[in-house]
Amino acid sequence: MAKRFYVTTPIYYVSDVPHLGHAYTTIVADALARYHRLRGDDTRFLTGTDDHGQKIARLAEAASVSPRAFADKFADAYRAAWRALEISNDDFIRTTDPDHEATVQDLWRRMAEKGDIYLGDYEGWYCVPCEQFYTEKELEKGHCPVHKKPVEKVKEQSYYFRLSKYQEPLLAYYAAHPELIQPEVRRNEVMAFVRGGLQDISISRTTFQWGVPVPEAKGHVVYVWLDALTNYYSATRRPALAGFWDDDVEIVHLIGKEISRFHAVYWPAFLMSAGLRLPTTVFCHGWWTVDGEKMSKTLGNVVDPLVLSQDLGVDAFRYFILREVPLGADGDFSHEALLTRYNAELANDLGNLLNRTLGMVHKYGIVPKSNIDPFDLENRVSRYSKHMEELQPSRALEELWTLVRKGNAFIDEKAPWKPDAPRPQILGDVLELCRVLSHLLEPFLPERAVEMRRQLGLDEPAHFPSWQSRTFAPTVATPLFPRIDDDRKKELLAKWTPKREAPPASDEDQITFEQFQKLDLRVGQVLSAEPVPKAKKLLQLTIDIGTAKRQVVAGIAETYRPEELVGKKVIFLANLKPATIRGVRSEGMILAAGDEQVVALSGLDRDAAPGTKVR
Ligand code: MSP
Repeated sequence: MAKRFYVTTPIYYVSDVPHLGHAYTTIVADALARYHRLRGDDTRFLTGTDDHGQKIARLAEAASVSPRAFADKFADAYRAAWRALEISNDDFIRTTDPDHEATVQDLWRRMAEKGDIYLGDYEGWYCVPCEQFYTEKELEKGHCPVHKKPVEKVKEQSYYFRLSKYQEPLLAYYAAHPELIQPEVRRNEVMAFVRGGLQDISISRTTFQWGVPVPEAKGHVVYVWLDALTNYYSATRRPALAGFWDDDVEIVHLIGKEISRFHAVYWPAFLMSAGLRLPTTVFCHGWWTVDGEKMSKTLGNVVDPLVLSQDLGVDAFRYFILREVPLGADGDFSHEALLTRYNAELANDLGNLLNRTLGMVHKYGIVPKSNIDPFDLENRVSRYSKHMEELQPSRALEELWTLVRKGNAFIDEKAPWKPDAPRPQILGDVLELCRVLSHLLEPFLPERAVEMRRQLGLDEPAHFPSWQSRTFAPTVATPLFPRIDDDRKKELLAKWTPKREAPPASDEDQITFEQFQKLDLRVGQVLSAEPVPKAKKLLQLTIDIGTAKRQVVAGIAETYRPEELVGKKVIFLANLKPATIRGVRSEGMILAAGDEQVVALSGLDRDAAPGTKVR
């Protein structure tokens, strides 16, 4: 029975370009939406950006641009990335969209009319990266438990939401709707949190202005999470999603596990207060690490989904992240594993099945007949559907790969190349299998599934397969996923995982304090400077080092003119063994920044007399 299905991703902060983690949620949501369309369900899929809040305001300020210009730039980056990854969202919402802002204010008014909002004074802790208030008890040694960074003290007038009032209604709702929070571990976590007691929460800020104005309350902007969560509902007041907050719609919010409290406690409470229905399911997926480490800019291991998709094809990337971990579990991303799965499962298993089948049809030139029995197709397909309904795309893919492997084994076993083999039957069966697969794979491999149907000569769009065999005219096969050979593999790995910065010095590279003390470093003042004849890069300097005058040759002529240098104070190494450079004696060295070429001379941030020791 066709139904109405509505799936969402979190709306992403416009603080940077999307990475593997953001692409993951969005691709899973996309696969679910495509699956439901395939079934003929009336489907809507929403994603977008979270433009407001203190985090974005500060980043914009640091970049010396307006928050709007800052948000626009990254919202565009998200839009472009989703286009490149074949994401089929029906709308893209931004919290700065005027109609969304109006809905946030509407919701606020409804909650206020219910008597759930009151004015108070807030004093507590705030983590800007989380955009979250913390109680003293929740902090870990004064640090945010998520970011492990110091939190900020907030003391301001603030509106509160009576969350405490919803403790019992929420618990009753969770008990009656076990499907609301998934998977089980998150449901237990959230329920334990609510049972532990709910405090009223602050829902407005006054110390910055980048947000939705609180209705009739000058100076207050709506707390960014109340603003952001409302997006799921406000989008359904637009033409593209109209009516998708109605009671009959299956609404699935797909999120990362770190934001379960906002989605499974605050959001349902806000909705109850406003008299609106709740989502059907909040599904919390796990987190990706990269080669066992947390993904971070500092570590330089952030995975860019666009680079991988360009090099390997969008569908290969989609396939890997959908297949590698069951939805809900944490996963570890490795570029090696990506290539291994590519060769084994895409190039070999699936690619070969289609290739061999079409090759034989072409060679034997026969009109195939099919009875599709040998693969237990009907059964497998209903299991595939069940997994998708249960939000388990990795299991649905496993089901399909069982079929793919059965197809290859069937060809090996039946050996249609033998003169006495019943070719029309055998080829008919595998051809039918390829046809069905070209439909069922569409949610995962939207681009290659179209190519499969093209090669099979099917002019039908993807839909849930019917069992009547259809006539189709296969064309000559070209590899769906060309194999990656060892050379190419090396090349790709070198490109994707560039060498990290040198690790911290090993014991042998370290020097002791005593060794350091052997350096006679002092303040030196340049008394004179002149070019060294026939040496473009060199200057000859006389340096006053307090107790003596020294002559040195320095490779700084391309960065400094002699007259700029006279009078400058620099750091001078006085006990360097003298040397003769281009015929000029050099007795020491001035310290400077730069590797091949000097960028800047060392200096002092306050005055100090020539000869002062530097340590
Ligand atoms: N703006 C809020 C969400 C508001 S929704 C009403 C936000 N944005 S975010 O840009 O930080 O995106 C967080 C989401 O990105 C996570 O919930 C998850 O979907 C995804 N991921 C970010 N890093 C991730 C991993 N390393 N692994 C998997 N997904 C993660 O929070």
